[in-house]
Amino acid sequence: MGTIIWGSCLETGNEEIDEQHRTLVATFNRLCAAVDREAPRIEELEGILNFLRDFTLVHFQREQELMVQCGYPLEAEHRRLHSELAEQIEALLDAFHQGATTLSPVTLDYLDDWLSRHIREEDVRLADFLKQAQAQARGTS
Ligand SMILES: [Fe+2]
Ligand SMILES: [Fe+2]
Repeated sequence: MGTIIWGSCLETGNEEIDEQHRTLVATFNRLCAAVDREAPRIEELEGILNFLRDFTLVHFQREQELMVQCGYPLEAEHRRLHSELAEQIEALLDAFHQGATTLSPVTLDYLDDWLSRHIREEDVRLADFLKQAQAQARGTS
């Protein structure tokens, strides 16, 4: 259920961002595989979710640094979307701490949709802007 297949439409063309996205997608896929097991182990799910939370924050931090560096005009909206996902992952971890034992298909669909759409739309837009900004900086230096 819900596995994201890496393909060219998920590539932004920025090597560093793409590498981090591959890790995010692989982590999401690990989560789906763990949920799909006959008897999902809570510690395993929690471990993957913890990693997803930590790595997502590292990744968002990096994209936000890049946005500041290049004066990205859509920074506020992009940050808002990042906060939205970070809050959702935090809420999922809280649910585990309060006794949840698995993740619902609705939750996995939400994560799938958020990740795929955000990468294809927002991050591709950011990477294009970064590329232009870097080319301009090279041109004027
Ligand atoms: Fe992003
Ligand atoms: Fe991203």
